[in-house]
Amino acid sequence: MANKLAAGNWKMNGTTAQLAEIDALHKAHPDPSVDILICPPATLLSRLSDATKDSAIATGAQDCHAHNSGAHTGDISAEMVKDAGGSYVILGHSERRTDHGETDAIVQAKTQAALDAGLIAVVCIGETEAERDAGTTLDVLGTQLAGSLPDGIDGNTVVVAYEPVWAIGTGRVPTLEQIAEAHDFMRKTLADRFGSAADDIALLYGGSVKPGNASEIFATSNVDGALVGGASLKAADFTGIITAL
Ligand code: G3H
Repeated sequence: MANKLAAGNWKMNGTTAQLAEIDALHKAHPDPSVDILICPPATLLSRLSDATKDSAIATGAQDCHAHNSGAHTGDISAEMVKDAGGSYVILGHSERRTDHGETDAIVQAKTQAALDAGLIAVVCIGETEAERDAGTTLDVLGTQLAGSLPDGIDGNTVVVAYEPVWAIGTGRVPTLEQIAEAHDFMRKTLADRFGSAADDIALLYGGSVKPGNASEIFATSNVDGALVGGASLKAADFTGIITAL
């Protein structure tokens, strides 16, 4: 398994003033054995990539279109992400699935486009609270994995993030047993489909990760890092999470 990965998703937060947090993160850079990724709003990607290009911090986008170019107002393509200096793209985040009606098939097409452009795709899956209450969590995760991932992937091209929808931005976190159950299931499901190529696919946990709960989450079975929203916006918080990895 490669290094642990601490991925920050700034979501729709940050103007140029937010770039000061990158200076602080550089100064604090706590652990060179942890891979660090920041996915800012598209408006900041180029500037953030310039600001981090001589550092160990990678950058990425929060979405891309499945096509390379064309009449798609407001969208950006995987090639554009690459051209702006990004090396990763988050795809299938539950906020995209909910706000923009993204289906597994759309996420799969976007993931293929990302891979074709040479980006690493961070593909997100996760159950709603109603699905967990109904006892269908693993069925939901299995369906999303099967439908969202294209064939031929491996640990160099795809990262999978497990984000229970009910844990995102709520301060609520699954039990460690629930996280382990989901991550062990994802590891086995990926191995069943992709064989040994799946061994190195990093499995991130996301949903209300903070410096105070990161250590125990990272010690959980098959957790290879975190996808962090709110706590990635402040360098001090994000550094605390990186240090816990
Ligand atoms: O992409 C990040 C996740 O949605 C988690 O967000 O850390 O604010 O709960 P959060």
